[in-house]
Amino acid sequence: MDKILSASFLKAPKYKEGAAFVFSKEFESDKPIKSATLQISSLGVYVAYLNGQRVGDFILAPGWTVYEKRLQYQTYDVTDLIKDGKNIITAEVGRGWRFHKRPQHATKHIKADEPALIASLCLTYNDGSEAIINTDSTWKSSESKTVYNDMYGGETYDDNFVSEEKSAVAFPHPKEILIPQEGEKVAEKERLKPQRLITTPECDTVIDFGQNLTGYVEFKAKGNKNDELVITHFEVLDKNGNVYTENLRKAKQQVRYICSGEEKLYKPSFTFYGFRFIKLEGFKDVNPDDFTAIAVYSDMKRIGHFESSDPLLNRLYENIIWGQRGNFLDVPTDCPQRDERLGWTGDAQVFIRVASMNYDVSTFFRKWLNDMAAEQGEDGRITHVIPATFDGGGSAAWGDAATICPWQLYLSYGNKEDLEHNFPMMKKWVDYIRKSAAHKSLIQCFKGSRNPYLWNTGKHFGDWLALDIEGDDEDARGATDHDYIATAFFAYSTELLIKAGEVLGKDMSEYKALHENIVKAYREEYVNPDGTIKINTQTACVLALKFGLTPDREATANQLVSLIRKYGHLTTGFVGTPYLLHVLTDIGEVELAYDLLLRKEYPSWLYPVTQGATTMWERWNGQRPDGSFATPGMNSFNHYAYGAVGDWLYSTAAGITMRDGTVAYEDLIFKPQTDKRLTFVKASIETARGTVASEWRRETDKTVYTFTVPAGSKAEAVLEGKTYKLNEGVNTITL
Ligand code: BGC
Repeated sequence: MDKILSASFLKAPKYKEGAAFVFSKEFESDKPIKSATLQISSLGVYVAYLNGQRVGDFILAPGWTVYEKRLQYQTYDVTDLIKDGKNIITAEVGRGWRFHKRPQHATKHIKADEPALIASLCLTYNDGSEAIINTDSTWKSSESKTVYNDMYGGETYDDNFVSEEKSAVAFPHPKEILIPQEGEKVAEKERLKPQRLITTPECDTVIDFGQNLTGYVEFKAKGNKNDELVITHFEVLDKNGNVYTENLRKAKQQVRYICSGEEKLYKPSFTFYGFRFIKLEGFKDVNPDDFTAIAVYSDMKRIGHFESSDPLLNRLYENIIWGQRGNFLDVPTDCPQRDERLGWTGDAQVFIRVASMNYDVSTFFRKWLNDMAAEQGEDGRITHVIPATFDGGGSAAWGDAATICPWQLYLSYGNKEDLEHNFPMMKKWVDYIRKSAAHKSLIQCFKGSRNPYLWNTGKHFGDWLALDIEGDDEDARGATDHDYIATAFFAYSTELLIKAGEVLGKDMSEYKALHENIVKAYREEYVNPDGTIKINTQTACVLALKFGLTPDREATANQLVSLIRKYGHLTTGFVGTPYLLHVLTDIGEVELAYDLLLRKEYPSWLYPVTQGATTMWERWNGQRPDGSFATPGMNSFNHYAYGAVGDWLYSTAAGITMRDGTVAYEDLIFKPQTDKRLTFVKASIETARGTVASEWRRETDKTVYTFTVPAGSKAEAVLEGKTYKLNEGVNTITL
């Protein structure tokens, strides 16, 4: 039995909202020790210490799960931290994701309970005997010097504060929800030094770390007793070079530090910030060396790399990587800075393909998918955000994360268990759409749209943040008909379910018939007699081609190309953008795909790069060419969704693809698409089989291709229409 189950949940005798609490227990270790193991978790987030030394390096433990049903605990080997004789174990507990005051939306997650700790320390002596120190009412409790903490608000640390110590209170709380650590630990990663110390035109003192990131700042807190030091974290300066915090909405993103007179190295423990810049108040004689920004995210293994001859493209790729770092903090989030930071399903499904090439995200997503299954409604509905912090769900392209994410894990890493495990959730989601699509209101029946295979019910986000509403660059939902998108995703999710079922050897005939019916209904409803799509947007054409819905690929392809030419640029939002370049490549428009990729003017992927972006922007128009910002209501500068283009860099610019029907790079087809504007491209992915790499380099009168094939993989290259068989190891072809 896990020892932690024999311990009790402990809370403070009196709850003071916003404060962090300290729980501690002194104990003796009176015999030579063989090993010591700590199992620990909390309601809220904890940091544990043994004899003043931090236990482990997990930041914001125990992580974020669907707390009603699943609460992770961590197990640490603490043998080296135990002393002979007197010892003390201490743990500080802050509010974390469980109790924070999110200023927007209903706060269904704010629990009626209070921050609490549960822990079990097991000492095993050399003589084979054991001593167990469990949390119980013999532990002491006090208030922390962190007198205020909140995920969105930040932290206040009062170095003068001295708390009374009282007995902690043991209380009953369900223990069957405790599960061992499932995800990656969250850890401190890159450490960045200030690039610039600025005095803004409005006379604010600002440090620029040169990189938008998620984490916090470690700094030397110096000052006289009761001096207050305030740090405000933010992402961008406005066009005049002044501090801009409006896009944080109601998130404060501050640290307040009250000095005792004694200098201390300080960093927050219970929160994180999304920032590139910090504004300093109360600091005297600022020395940039006293500040270090620390990136904090899930400790995934980096496996992918990309580089080309175009520095802007390389910066775009770096921005995608930083977007993943900043938004893979235990759950895949939309953004790390404003009063949101939630596990938005739509964002995760558009980004998972490139995410799985950049890093090994198998462990990270398995945990999140378990939370998704835990949140799934009886009726199969998938909530908009996982863990669900507000009611709302069942939307197209968002809920479809339930089929897209497990399928992508299987494609990238080849474990059938990911499909087996998630198949019930995938099936329930498709059944949910089927029921919702069939259930029409009287008005819909009256309008004649009662076909049960058209998903024209429910509320959807449309092609989120697309640019095709004429004369309005701030509209959120784009011009593509929502029901059209919903029906397209109904077909796509059903297709993925069929594929998953077939891998698992299930009879999928019922769903194949369903798929045929959806495609038939789609064609009747949305395709003109000349083969063009009635919904005349880039995203509508992209989905028709990508999901195999159009009966006339050529007509739809021409429609898409003419829409791009009409605007002279992309107009797609979250739904169309991830597939846009892939679809153009499939229809033989590689040069046009490169035109869009390498375009520098607004709107494009490189436009933000030309504006100095160091992460992906949420909107194409985050900061317009005239320097004005898009609406602060929805304008994050670290939102990974448009970074989905990264998978085209690996799979088309560098040409690393898998043969259809195969997974985990077991059967490779290298099919790089060169472009005259680039002289070289190279990419690699460290797979379970070994390194897969592709490179092309243009020399005066020839192009040299180099492909690396891991042991045990089959591989061929398709170059200029010819197929070449490749061997294990490094292959060079000159054309
Ligand atoms: C989030 C998005 C999300 C969207 C749903 C926003 O507030 O930041 O990324 O997908 O809501 O429409």
